[in-house]
Parts: sequence; structure tokens; C-alpha cells
Amino acid sequence: MAQTLYDRIGVGYSFRRRPDPRIAGHILAALGPARTVVNIGAGTGSYEPVDRSVVAVEPSAEMVRQRKQGGPAVRASADRLPFPGRSFDAALAVLTIHHWPDWRQGLAEMRRVARERVVIFTKDPAHAGFWLTQEYFPEMIEIDRPIFPAADEIARFLGPAEVRAVPVPADCWDGFTGSYWRRPEAFLDAGVRGAISTFTKMKNVESGLERLRADLASGAWKRRHEPLLSLAVLDVGYRLIVASNAR
Ligand SMILES: C[S@@+](CC[C@H](N)C(=O)[O-])C[C@H]1O[C@@H](n2cnc3c(N)ncnc32)[C@H](O)[C@@H]1O
Repeated sequence: MAQTLYDRIGVGYSFRRRPDPRIAGHILAALGPARTVVNIGAGTGSYEPVDRSVVAVEPSAEMVRQRKQGGPAVRASADRLPFPGRSFDAALAVLTIHHWPDWRQGLAEMRRVARERVVIFTKDPAHAGFWLTQEYFPEMIEIDRPIFPAADEIARFLGPAEVRAVPVPADCWDGFTGSYWRRPEAFLDAGVRGAISTFTKMKNVESGLERLRADLASGAWKRRHEPLLSLAVLDVGYRLIVASNAR
């Protein structure tokens, strides 16, 4: 396959983007009794169940190189899955749908290859998000809006489907955008930003960073967001969409 975005930005992914056990609990519960799972946009293997048979689908050679566990990895794109229909009990896609060239085609492919259920974990652009994009980096909203389908849209496409909110722990082990809602200093770290694809697409990070740095130094951030500091989890817009595919 040709070079992909993640061949470039995925270097070091398995260090910054470790699966969070609490989020993993939600995803594993959503997979239900499925014994065989295809994980689309599998990356380095985060959130793959270890007690079931898993096949990973991942276009980036760099991401496949960092896989430590699990079954075989097939280099392919979500919109053209190289499997016969009904090959797996469940099809899973975690934080990847916004990278697909055609998300509807990718979901249609997931539905085709799954016998029992389709599980998607994604950020819902219908949710207001949190202070990061609202106050410091509104460009992130502009970048994400056209590529993230709304959770309700995904559910309608897959229907019948259930949309479940997944609150993010304050000490989330993973390093996606919403992971650091209670740790604003983290965004000052170029390594943290480099593991978040939206940051890598931004034209102007510096002015937002400068304001965040100044607000942290002056205590203005803390004064505005004091109530967040006593929360253990927060809904910042991450959703599981769980669709029954039994036919
Ligand atoms: C943010 S990472 C998520 C990886 C993994 N699911 C996780 O939760 O850590 C997004 C992944 O989607 C993959 N991806 C990009 N385009 C894709 C496509 N057309 N089909 C399938 N996966 C794709 C990227 O290579 C990358 O590994």
C-alpha cells in the first residue's frame, strides 16, 4: 500500500496511545459474546480483546510494526475489506472512522463481514467537546467537522443501533484529544500533540499554545475551570455505537 498519514505521525504511537483499561471495559462489554473479531483501523492493537480470536485491518506499515499482541494484521482500507461476507462474529473500529476515505462504505463493509454485531468507538461532533477547542484551538473544530460523522448518523446508517456515552477518566492512559481534559499542561508537550492527528493538521498551533501557557502561569485557566478539578470522569463527547447485525 502507499505511504499513509500514520506512517509519518504514527512513530511512537504505542508509547503515547496506550489503551485505557476503563475505556477497554466499555468496548469489551459492547463486543458481547463475540468469539471472533475483526478490528478495523487497528493501529498498534489498542483495545483488542486478548481472550478472543482477532484479525487486525490496518493500512499503515508503521502502525503494524508496533503491534505486540494478537492475531494476524492485514494491510487494507476499511472501504475494501478483503474477507468474504459473515467471516467474523463482530467488527470493531476504534477512533479511526474519521480517517476513512468514505465512512459509509467502511460501515457497509463492516456490516457485510460481521455476523452478529458492529461496534464503533468515536468522538461525536454533535457534542460541544471541552475547553481545549472552545477556548484555545477552534481550528480543531473546523478540521474535525467535515471528517467525523455524528454518532446518530452512524447509528441511523447501521440501525438498529444503540449509542452509549463513554466518559473519559481524568487520568486516562490513552492520549487522544479528550484524554487530557483535567491535565491542561499536557497540551504544552509537543509529544502529546504529535500523537493527536488533528494537531498535526493545524496551520497555527502557536497562538493557542501561547494563550494556554499564559493562562496556566497566571492561574486564569484554574479560576475558569476549578470545578473540573474535583471530577474523576467527564463526558467530552466520546461514544460507542453498538449495532446488532444478526440477520
Ligand atoms: C487514531 S488511530 C487508532 C488506532 C487504534 N484503533 C487505537 O485505538 O489506538 C487511527 C488508525 O486508523 C488507521 N486508518 C487510516 N486510514 C484508514 C483506512 N482507510 N482504513 C482503515 N484504517 C485506517 C490509521 O492508520 C490509524 O492506525
